[in-house]
Amino acid sequence: MKEEDGDGVDSSEEEDHPHVPYSPTRYPEDTMLEKSREFYTLMNQRRTVRFISPESVPREVIDNVIRAAGTAPSGAHTEPWTFVVVSDPMIKHQIRQIVEKEEEVNYRQRMGDKWINDLAKFRTNWIKEYLDVAPYLILIFKQTHGILPNNKKRIHYYNEISVSIACGILLAALQLHIGPDLLLSFLSLMSHR
Ligand SMILES: Cc1cc2nc3c(=O)[nH]c(=O)nc-3n(C[C@H](O)[C@H](O)[C@H](O)COP(=O)(O)O)c2cc1C
Repeated sequence: MKEEDGDGVDSSEEEDHPHVPYSPTRYPEDTMLEKSREFYTLMNQRRTVRFISPESVPREVIDNVIRAAGTAPSGAHTEPWTFVVVSDPMIKHQIRQIVEKEEEVNYRQRMGDKWINDLAKFRTNWIKEYLDVAPYLILIFKQTHGILPNNKKRIHYYNEISVSIACGILLAALQLHIGPDLLLSFLSLMSHR
C-alpha cells in the first residue's frame, strides 16, 4: 500500500527484497581478546591535532576508508551521507576561507564567554592553515532527505545520527589504514554545517 503525505513524501518506494542468509565469522575467545586489545591500543593513539603533515597517501586509500564509512548503519537504510574529497589547492584554499570566516564569527559572536573560556586550554582559534596543508580534505554532508525517481521526497530518518556513526567508522578506518601519525582535521569542518 502506498503512503504519501501532503508534502509529496513517499515512504513505500522499495520493492520487497528476498531474504539473504547471514553467516558472519565468529572468532575464538583468545582471538577476540587479542584483537580487542590491539584495536584499543591503536585507537587510543588517535589524536585531534591542528597541525597537519603535507605528506600524501595513495588516493585509493582515501576511497577505501570512505567505502568503509559507507558501510555504517543508517535509519531505514537510507545512507544519508555524501563524502566529498578535495585535493585541488585552489578549492582547499576557498574552503579554508569559508571555514575561517564562519569560525571567526563563532569565536567573536556566537560561542559566548563560557564556551570561549572552556576552549582556552586547547589554544584554538579561527585560523586553520591545515586546510591548505592537508593533501586531502574529506567533506561530509548529511542529506536530510532524498529524491526518488518519481521526484517524491524520501525521508532520511535519524540522518544526523547515521552520518555521525559513519564519521566514527571513517575515523577508525583512517587510524587503522594510515596509522597513528595521521593528522586529522575534518572535525572542525563537521561542526559547521
Ligand atoms: C563534535 C566535535 C566537534 C569538535 N569541534 C572542534 C573544533 O571546532 N575545533 C577543534 O580544534 N577541535 C574540535 N574537536 C576536537 C576535540 O577538541 C577533541 O576531540 C578533544 O579535545 C579530545 O581530543 P582527542 O580527539 O585528541 O582525543 C571536536 C570534536 C568533536 C567530537
